[in-house]
Amino acid sequence: MAEQPLRRIILAITGATGSGFGVAAARRLASNPAVGEVTLLVSPTGRRCLLDECGMRLEDLLAVSPKLRHVDERNLGADISSGSHRQHGMAIVPCSAGSLGRIAAGTSDGLITRAADVCLKERRPLVVCLRETPLNRIHLENMLRVHDAGGVIMPIMPGYYFKPAGLEDLYQAFATRVLDQLGLPEDDPRRWGA
Ligand SMILES: Cc1cc2nc3c(=O)[nH]c(=O)nc-3n(C[C@H](O)[C@H](O)[C@H](O)COP(=O)(O)O)c2cc1C
Repeated sequence: MAEQPLRRIILAITGATGSGFGVAAARRLASNPAVGEVTLLVSPTGRRCLLDECGMRLEDLLAVSPKLRHVDERNLGADISSGSHRQHGMAIVPCSAGSLGRIAAGTSDGLITRAADVCLKERRPLVVCLRETPLNRIHLENMLRVHDAGGVIMPIMPGYYFKPAGLEDLYQAFATRVLDQLGLPEDDPRRWGA
């Protein structure tokens, strides 16, 4: 029987608070044995949040694993800009309301919005972890548009039933759910009934 090729996943970190959730997702994707490559896209405000909240520069995040490769968000000629390039899904953690709106409108004006658009048209998983509160009508409509186009709207609303010991515990439990949506389920004692 032919072996499954190692998965290629795109992870975008955009300019919303909660970049620690993105860092946890990056670590967990990189350590998953079924994943061969994680393409990391970080918006300019995403970089700022990463530094402010996690004390990490992009280079620090890339040093986590050789499976992480960075592609410039402005590089619309990058391989992942084309549906013909083999990729297996994308998560945006955290996703700003701005990026959600651009994806909902199909602007494809940067590599994050283009890669998301490609996932939707190619029917690949697109997991949008919106971080905003409260939500206005525009956010709600944009969420519905992306949902109806095939995306998974997964706001950063972690569960608490496992009695998290701290932020890292919350980050990890949420990363488990992101990986679930990308078809990469992992054992996790934080699961209900685990
Ligand atoms: C420190 C900081 C925190 C922010 N937090 C949020 C947030 O939690 N949610 C959100 O939707 N926008 C937030 N914003 C605003 C977005 O970063 C801004 O709208 C930006 O244009 C989004 O573009 P991007 O998605 O390409 O990063 C924040 C901005 C800054 C500077």
